[in-house]
Amino acid sequence: MLDEVKELVSKCLQARDMAYCPYSRFPVGAAILTADGAIITGCNVENASYGLTVCAERTAIQRAVVEGYTQFTAIAVTCDIKDRFVGPCGACRQVLMEFGSDWIVYLTKPDGSYKETSLLELLPLAFSPAHLAKN
Ligand code: THU
Repeated sequence: MLDEVKELVSKCLQARDMAYCPYSRFPVGAAILTADGAIITGCNVENASYGLTVCAERTAIQRAVVEGYTQFTAIAVTCDIKDRFVGPCGACRQVLMEFGSDWIVYLTKPDGSYKETSLLELLPLAFSPAHLAKN
């Protein structure tokens, strides 16, 4: 398990190096662990029409889905901020919630140290697909 986390953390750091962020110069990397042990990565991809930017976490989710994965257990995220742990933006938290509330989230610093939290902690009282079920 610890080795799996180390690999997830290392993959999110590698993904951050691929970020396309000429406007913000704020690279972000994400790595998702699927229920069957695959790791899918993402980086932020910006656009000259700024609002079209896609965050690293959502890039990873979209890659995972097209590869056939919809069951996830954890995500590691990182950026270039060295002195504190940084969480995913609110939009990304909601997108993760689409695929279940039971995610472990590793907030990762550039030196590879991480803080473990959970999606439930990051997005309490969330709206989720279950709320769309008819009574
Ligand atoms: N960004 C992410 O990739 N993930 C987040 O959770 C927060 C923000 C990106 C979007 C944009 O390219 C840059 O960081 C600055 O906002």
